Amino acid sequence: SRDFVIAPSILSANFARLGEEVDNVLASGADWVHFDVMDNHYVPNLTIGPMVCQALRDHGVTAPIDVHLMVKPVDQLIGDFIDAGASMITFHPEATDHIDRSLQLIRDGGCQAGLVFNPATPLSYLDYVMDKVDIVLLMSVNPGFGGQAFIPATLDKLREARAKIDASGREIRLEVDGGVKVDNIAEVAAAGADTFVAGSAIFKAFEANDANGYDSVMKKM
Ligand code: DX5
Ligand code: ZN
Repeated sequence: SRDFVIAPSILSANFARLGEEVDNVLASGADWVHFDVMDNHYVPNLTIGPMVCQALRDHGVTAPIDVHLMVKPVDQLIGDFIDAGASMITFHPEATDHIDRSLQLIRDGGCQAGLVFNPATPLSYLDYVMDKVDIVLLMSVNPGFGGQAFIPATLDKLREARAKIDASGREIRLEVDGGVKVDNIAEVAAAGADTFVAGSAIFKAFEANDANGYDSVMKKM
């Protein structure tokens, strides 16, 4: 049996008290912290950078920080996030001119490396770099915003990615990001995902004064 990872996306957290929000989800059983980096260029939104990652480390966060780069170009920020305490770094293959080099930069910095696939990006980007990939991340929404609806075609794509990973014989996590909720996570797992990003499902439930806070959402996932 595969071990499942829940990675709350702090994109939906309250940034005015981010340290506390991250402490709370980790205390409630979250495995990783999913850290969405948007540059208003590769995606139409602007979020957080290496300084905030470093601030979480300085705050005492020891859990893996899963940095999802939605930026173009990527290489400069890879180095900055390695220095800022990232544990894994994923990027979109269309956003770099040299995919193999960017993956190698991440691994040379001691982090796990991954490629992220937009809903219409083909999995064939994996073909010649499977040996340098630790994570395959399938977007189940178009990147840029939290709170969007899960795109159903992702389920078939997950099955395809699962087959490629199994055929490689390597230990590669299959992560899914966007619109993952309590009511669809079982179906997403059945399609082959083992690592689940959830933003609004976790943080908005708490904001809505769910009686037991993060705990109740996390336990259902
Ligand atoms: C979207 C981000 C996601 C986002 C997911 O571009 O990569 O991580 O925060 O948010 P939800 O879970 O609300 O769809
Ligand atoms: Zn993300």
